[in-house]
Amino acid sequence: MDKVIIFDTTLRDGEQAAGASLNVQEKLEIARQLDKLGVDVIEAGFPASSPGDFEAVELISRELKRPTICALTSASAEAVDKAWEAIKGANHSRIHIFLSASDIHLSYQLKKSRDEMLEMSREMVARAKGYLDDIEFSPMDASRADPVFIYQILEAVINAGASTVNIPDTVGYATPQEYSGLIRGILENVPNIHKAIISVHCHNDLGLAVANSLEAIREGARQVECTINGIGERAGNASLEEIVMTLKTRRDFFNLSTNIDTTRIYRISRLVSELTGFSIQPNKAIIGANAFRHQSGIHQDGVLKKAITYEIMDPRVVGIPASTLVLSKLSGRHAFKERLSELGYTLSDDALNRAFQGFKELADKKKEITDRDIESLIAEELRTTTELYHLDHVEVSCGDHSLPTATVRLITPDGQSLADAALGTGPVDAVCKAINRIVDIPNELTEFTVKSVTEGIDAIGEVLIRIESDGITYTGRGASTDVIVASAKAYMNALNRLLSSKTIKEGGI
Ligand code: KIV
Ligand code: ZN
Repeated sequence: MDKVIIFDTTLRDGEQAAGASLNVQEKLEIARQLDKLGVDVIEAGFPASSPGDFEAVELISRELKRPTICALTSASAEAVDKAWEAIKGANHSRIHIFLSASDIHLSYQLKKSRDEMLEMSREMVARAKGYLDDIEFSPMDASRADPVFIYQILEAVINAGASTVNIPDTVGYATPQEYSGLIRGILENVPNIHKAIISVHCHNDLGLAVANSLEAIREGARQVECTINGIGERAGNASLEEIVMTLKTRRDFFNLSTNIDTTRIYRISRLVSELTGFSIQPNKAIIGANAFRHQSGIHQDGVLKKAITYEIMDPRVVGIPASTLVLSKLSGRHAFKERLSELGYTLSDDALNRAFQGFKELADKKKEITDRDIESLIAEELRTTTELYHLDHVEVSCGDHSLPTATVRLITPDGQSLADAALGTGPVDAVCKAINRIVDIPNELTEFTVKSVTEGIDAIGEVLIRIESDGITYTGRGASTDVIVASAKAYMNALNRLLSSKTIKEGGI
């Protein structure tokens, strides 16, 4: 049976989603889970875009042995060289070059002619070919470009050495018929197309990313670019779980398969949601909380008699756990480690010790520790390993007849311990103001949400905070059974992301 190559771009296009920035450790953890999930190619980042991206791509290239690690690059010699620098340590590496191809982009943005675009594309593919054989080329905004020009570009880049040609619907404009028509046109009009794999890359601006990708696959594309939970630039990319589960559930229609271990879908979806701070809408296909819940009496009756009456997929096939109750205060380090490994996490000894410590503290406060609690603990661990400022202590005093006051103590990047206090309109405001007195970086808090990880009054509270600075949004998350502590952690997390992005910029982009 024909295989469809799953190219995951959660760490690159997914991370381009406003407010989704991930630190290097978080990217590595997602990459490890993508490896276990069985994706064929991981687009780990755009090394020339920032030192942080470079570092993540380099680290993932060194750590993961099975999948192909891909680095994105613009069509400049310097950026191509940087991409190679970052991935040269990988067992299987790929360079992905993109350059705008539509007249709209060429005339308004690049101010280049079609001939210049063609020449640059050819040259950059040839340059990458000097480093490796696995080269992908994307004529950006292909779905709004002149198809005849796309045929010319593809012929030229394949002759120069591209082994995969990707057709981006960059702004999510195409309809399924138009997009599959473009793929058919490519198959009929590019004489050397048999030497390359056709890939599809669809954005979801009109909610058509998955439909467009599937139509293109039906027409002959054999690589699909997608992201976990469909995250990505603007309205996002085609969602991996929807594409994979459609191909699996409707094998009778597509007659195609993938290398994905679908029982890991739920787990990685939760991880990406935890680390990016993007919650999953309840009605999201495949992984939403309601995706397998039957509300109507008639449906429930049918499912009880025979699941197939109203269920086209078995929830176990996507890894939705039947029960999530796992550990308690009596569970030891071994049981904790075992459960982490069942959930797919591999932590270093130090990280495991810290996470176990967090588990013990939680188990003292909470009777039952579920998988969701563990996910929350691990996310907290990943958030804090690379932080600049560390929240060492927080204390508040508040009530209906008192002035909310907060005292905080932070450990600075150079190891100093600094304390300060502030009054606020409420305890969270007081905490943020006290932190600001020490960190002192202008920002505006734009979003604040608290939710409980599990049911029960003793549940962990997860706080999500978004702050804005210079027009850029930074997301922070924090978890604790005390929502004020969780808020302080979330604010510190957002500030740390803001600070590390400033440090990177000052480092010379
Ligand atoms: O959407 C797009 O065109 C892209 C390219 C870089 C492939 O993400
Ligand atoms: Zn894209």
